[in-house]
Amino acid sequence: MTDFDRPIIDRALAATRFAGRIHHFETIQSTNLHAVEAAGTGAPDGSVYIADEQTAGRGRGGHTWHSIPGDGLYLSALIRPASPIPLADALWISLSTGLAAQRAVQQTTGLLTDIRWPNDLILNGKKVGGILVESTSAPATAHHPAHLRFAVIGIGINVNHQAFPPELAPLATSLRRESGAFHARETLIQNLLLALDDELYALELELRGELPSAGSPAFTLPGGAGLLARFTRASTWVQGKRVRVDEAGGYTGITAGLDARGFLQVAGDDGLLHTVLSGGVRPA
Ligand code: BTN
Repeated sequence: MTDFDRPIIDRALAATRFAGRIHHFETIQSTNLHAVEAAGTGAPDGSVYIADEQTAGRGRGGHTWHSIPGDGLYLSALIRPASPIPLADALWISLSTGLAAQRAVQQTTGLLTDIRWPNDLILNGKKVGGILVESTSAPATAHHPAHLRFAVIGIGINVNHQAFPPELAPLATSLRRESGAFHARETLIQNLLLALDDELYALELELRGELPSAGSPAFTLPGGAGLLARFTRASTWVQGKRVRVDEAGGYTGITAGLDARGFLQVAGDDGLLHTVLSGGVRPA
């Protein structure tokens, strides 16, 4: 990977949970699979696994993730929450990661991606990035409800692809195709991990009921620092978009905001208010 210089990345991340914990592979089956296995053998919070190529990249809904050598960013971060995150709040990690990825892409390329709930990065109607969070839970105890033991945050971004296989071409694009310029993955990785550290910090505070006040770019946006408010501003999909949802037998309707847990609501053509649980939201 010619544009991967670990000492530079480590210096940039010195003040984050990822400092000194970056692992790089030329080829791997799946960085998510590797991170889940590493979690099982005691890898610490903040361990990051990056590959130039994945031979069995995993996508949401049991799909594979197109992971050709060199052109994409394939990264997984292992998170072991310092204070327990209840299972009911696990979706917030996905939403936070979408915001971090959106911010990193904009800082690196100037391109403003849309976020299709829960966390697809979209440019000009095509997917440029996807996020797969895989987690295991710890059972409820006398002191805590069932909570996350760890979460693996997997992020794939199409960076310098100049073409896609015919079956993906109508659906997928890359940062290079949209901007007309080559982008160093190293810079995107730095910006992504800085933004992710920032978002996870904001999330930890918010889940403890301490709305933040200072310092982080996450907190300087107008209209409040709360995750749901920020996600609603960042995504045109949350409100007023006509969609088809491939869930519960499939239905169509208009998106109607997020509920208090971060799930997307859709006012269905059948007159019912639906809660989208797992994604599969497409333009109708
Ligand atoms: C999606 O289907 O939208 C999610 C795609 C997630 C792909 C990334 S690439 C790095 C990490 N390792 C994997 O096997 N998958 C995720």
